[in-house]
Amino acid sequence: MNLKKLFIPLKEGKVLVTSALPYANGSIHLGHLVEYIQTDIYVRFLKSSGVDAIYCCADDTHGTPIDIKASQLNIRPEEIIKKYHEEHISDFSRFLIHFDSYYTTNSEDNQKLSVLFFNKAKEAGLIYTKEIELAYCEHCRRFLPDRYVKGRCPVCGAEDQYGDVCEKCHSTYTPKDLIDPYCVICGNTPVMKKSRHYFFRLSALSEKLREWISSNEFIQKEVKNHVLGWIEKGLEDWCISRDEPYFGFKIPGEDHKYFYVWLDAPIGYISSTLNYCRSHNCSFEDYWKGGSSSIIHFIGKDIMYFHLLFWPAMLMTAGFNLPKSVVVHGFLTVNKEKMSKSRGTFLTAKEFSSLVSPELLRFYYAANLTSGIDDIDLDLKDFTARVNNELVSNLANFCYRVLSFTSKNFEGVVLDTKDYNKEFQKSVLGVAGEVVDKYASLEFRQAVQGILRLSSMGNQLLQESEPWKGIKRGGEGRKKAHLDMSLAVNLVRILSKLIYPVMPGFSLKLGGQLAMANDVKLMSGIDFSFSGKINNAEVIYEKIEEVKLMEHIERNEKEQTGEPAKKPGEKLKEKPDDEEHSAGSVSGEGFSSLNLVVARIDEAGDHPNADRLYVLDIDLGGETRRLVAGLKKYYSKEELKGRKIVVVENMKRAVLRGIESQGMLLAGDDGDNVILLNPGDAQPGERVFVEGVEGEPAEEVTIDLILGLKMSVRGGVAEWKGKPLRTAGGVVKAEGLKDGALIR
Ligand code: MSP
Ligand code: ZN
Repeated sequence: MNLKKLFIPLKEGKVLVTSALPYANGSIHLGHLVEYIQTDIYVRFLKSSGVDAIYCCADDTHGTPIDIKASQLNIRPEEIIKKYHEEHISDFSRFLIHFDSYYTTNSEDNQKLSVLFFNKAKEAGLIYTKEIELAYCEHCRRFLPDRYVKGRCPVCGAEDQYGDVCEKCHSTYTPKDLIDPYCVICGNTPVMKKSRHYFFRLSALSEKLREWISSNEFIQKEVKNHVLGWIEKGLEDWCISRDEPYFGFKIPGEDHKYFYVWLDAPIGYISSTLNYCRSHNCSFEDYWKGGSSSIIHFIGKDIMYFHLLFWPAMLMTAGFNLPKSVVVHGFLTVNKEKMSKSRGTFLTAKEFSSLVSPELLRFYYAANLTSGIDDIDLDLKDFTARVNNELVSNLANFCYRVLSFTSKNFEGVVLDTKDYNKEFQKSVLGVAGEVVDKYASLEFRQAVQGILRLSSMGNQLLQESEPWKGIKRGGEGRKKAHLDMSLAVNLVRILSKLIYPVMPGFSLKLGGQLAMANDVKLMSGIDFSFSGKINNAEVIYEKIEEVKLMEHIERNEKEQTGEPAKKPGEKLKEKPDDEEHSAGSVSGEGFSSLNLVVARIDEAGDHPNADRLYVLDIDLGGETRRLVAGLKKYYSKEELKGRKIVVVENMKRAVLRGIESQGMLLAGDDGDNVILLNPGDAQPGERVFVEGVEGEPAEEVTIDLILGLKMSVRGGVAEWKGKPLRTAGGVVKAEGLKDGALIR
């Protein structure tokens, strides 16, 4: 094939393709999969086109979230990253995402390389230290770096942005710049505290970076505009150190300071290459030094600043190769909205793979991916329709029809069709060539459209030549039918090759039926040269039912309504971070951020859309609110009416099957029984507190925070850290539960 047609012209040399390194403290979800599937399709395409490409990735293991999570679970961070390493690898293989190396940033290789990069920058005079003021939470006794302090973006004013980068306008800054900051862990307002930090003089490289970006012909236009805009505005120097407690690599010569995770994370691309080369008779320098190789990074649009400014700056300083391109993709939405746990549209890779064959997601993503950076939508109705109408009815059925007809009527024999119906061959090869070009230019949607056009042409060929009539006529009629079917078998073979990057499993199965399992992987030999004998045909994909997210919605509801989501005796599930890297899940001491209030249930009714849920109207002492609660198994409506309860007033609002729940009631759960907390004689509106615990409640708290508190029941009394929950008039009771019952 003509390599000049590639989006990124890849010469003779080696090609390294990477995806961004997923964080090692959460599960792979549908959003991540956009990137890993897109990259995997591209790499499979390159390899099958004869390009000497490898696909390297790793877990991104360092930083504050892992440190806090570990200290909260009272385990070492290494245990968390080990668990997720195994999980990530098995999730990727489920989706047929194949890495030549899947490594970790927490390796000696990566540590050495990080120090090397640091020293090179130091030698170049690009590192200096400076005392700066940082947000420090006196309550949590730690500096609040990047993701642990939130507030308004100093550039565009967007609310609730992290301390390092604004997800609305993509600007980066330091937590100190945030407007109205608060500690994400406990909700308290941080103080400013001085500390000495290391800086990388990014500003000194503005011109070099501008030059590199503007002269790069492969970086997408929109991306170029963003990055050149940032340079235009003036680049700020980059703080590359963090104070302890932190999980990462110590800075040479320092006892209490670490490299910021974003310094060693992209270096993970190099150590993963090194990891590959150790067992493949090559050196990482073959890829990272000298002029004969190409590096291509695939990333999401949220991390452009890191990959198009910091990373190239580090590479040019250390004398390593710059990427030939950085391919940026958009974000995934589900049913046109951001993935969300409360809507049940936040699905992990594993959860999705339990609903439907994972390869179908590859097909759907490919059918929606372009070379642009627009968001891509997973519309579940559209998903079912496309799988059924395009993949199954059109492509898969055509292949099955042809192969089974040939087996049944011609004993699997395929005739030589080199000189038969040249016109049909020519139009097929024309479209096939376009498909290859579309893969090369990362226009996967159009590649899939081309493939479907080919199977439509095949179906039409059968429709017009009617071989089922020919075999009945016998003689010449039968001969012609055999030639037509042989032509169609050749088309199936071409299709199996063309679909390989998107659906390698499907393709290899077809290859097996065609008796060409190995050859199928090749983009070369796309022609009508096949003759001989094929194997028996089998159905590979059948129509699917509409994908139901209900199971997941129900589970999410259980987590939010107090109904046990776990089996008796089972430990609390350690929840993966959600798409917002919800830092709220890691708090151990956030009791004061709860606003607990006594309320009275005025009305209890059935939820119109959910069998297990009630809708409650409650009185918080003058204010009425509506709660959705999963109490049907435990209380009748009559039992609930008039009852006094304890409510988390500042619970993050959630829409549960169409009704907004404005708060959360607290109940104890010992695995057998669920019993509402009983505030005794206290009146609606009264505060529930723990003696000695002070501090302002947060504006909003999450279920993760509440679960993390591990409030429990002992002797029929609700308590936190051994102290009773109480109102001004007495303790809060939860009678009838075993000691140790969890409250949520
Ligand atoms: N650890 C960093 C990357 C370091 S690279 C040296 C990181 N990790 S991540 O787990 O948050 O994201 C990994 C990749 O998945 C990123 O490229 C990110 O853009 C992508 N996606 C994460 N969520 C996504 C969607 N919802 N949709 C599409 N891509 C998404 O960032
Ligand atoms: Zn705090």
